[in-house]
Amino acid sequence: AHQWRGVIREYADRLPAHVQQRVITLGEGGTPLVAAPALSALTGAEVFVKVEGMNPTGSFKDRGMTTAMSAAAGRGAKAVVCASTGNTSASAAAYATAAGMVCAVLVPDGKIAMGKLSQAIAHGATLLQVDGNFDDCLVAARKLAEAYPVELVNSVNPDRIEGQKTGAFEIVDALGDAPDIHALPVGNAGNITAYWKGFREYAGLDAGAEHGAVATHTPIMWGFQAAGAAPIVAGHPITEPETIATAIRIGNPASWTQAEAARDLSGGLIEAVTDDEILHAHRVLSSQVGVFVEPASAAGVAGILKLAEQGRVPAGARIVVTVTGHGLKDPQWALRTADGDDVVPVRVRPDVVEIADALGLG
Ligand code: F0G
Repeated sequence: AHQWRGVIREYADRLPAHVQQRVITLGEGGTPLVAAPALSALTGAEVFVKVEGMNPTGSFKDRGMTTAMSAAAGRGAKAVVCASTGNTSASAAAYATAAGMVCAVLVPDGKIAMGKLSQAIAHGATLLQVDGNFDDCLVAARKLAEAYPVELVNSVNPDRIEGQKTGAFEIVDALGDAPDIHALPVGNAGNITAYWKGFREYAGLDAGAEHGAVATHTPIMWGFQAAGAAPIVAGHPITEPETIATAIRIGNPASWTQAEAARDLSGGLIEAVTDDEILHAHRVLSSQVGVFVEPASAAGVAGILKLAEQGRVPAGARIVVTVTGHGLKDPQWALRTADGDDVVPVRVRPDVVEIADALGLG
């Protein structure tokens, strides 16, 4: 039987040689592309979700971390650093452990989900809670990597983008061609940059030219930011970004211009969704599709639902929404009703009649 070997080995011919000298992998990639009939019914399109929470540390970051960490290991690096809203730190910590490297992570104080914090600590990273937001953390991490012997593994590291582009390859491989539209959340804008690169290469463009075209076209790229943290939508940095979707609580994305290029070259858009819309989409995904995600990951779904309501989703279009991180990262949101009340489980004695009554079977 074939076991998935991680994105570097699966896509070896499409990745640079320097990430292949010493491969650090936890078996990332090969995630499910799940048909979502409930979302198709709500939008009038044909919707699939790419479930990136199924990666080893529970988010898409693992695709880029295998390549960034392998490149660092190949160069003989001993230590890595990243700034993070949580998922990058969890991934960096895990892959540094696999590589036998030391890992330092800078996170905004009090603004990262418990699951992610515990992952970084469990994997032995040195975690510093910074009195500032993600953007402050990234500035500091970049300066640290310039002045000290530590490698930066944020998505400004081009090796991260190389790995993350494999998400686009997998979608095309699964569907047999590119979708009409690809939707995803946008935070620091590394992922939209990576997907656009991957889709272009599979369409025989850029570095893909030497392989010929796998896909007949590139998709329209739809990116969604949280309304309180939507600098690309506003057209200027946001100094105090706020959203319950802490993963994308970012006011000055590092790959801003690349995100705009993906948007404009694909004929796409980058728009904002409110926290309420994000939480609604989160609930639709869990209660109608069967996929549990963290709030930020629901931003793409919130986006297509919003555009559908505005009559802007082309009928029958094939849409893939990348849902970026697992619901168990930040599970508290499921324990609240749409009205914001705590969900209180019904208590019963271990008595079958009482249980049947409670279930309405009596
Ligand atoms: N979704 C999740 C779950 C994320 O963790 C992130 C980014 C994004 C979407 C946005 O992706 O930054 O490439 O545009 N998380 C980073 C982190 C910032 O530190 O974990 P992006």
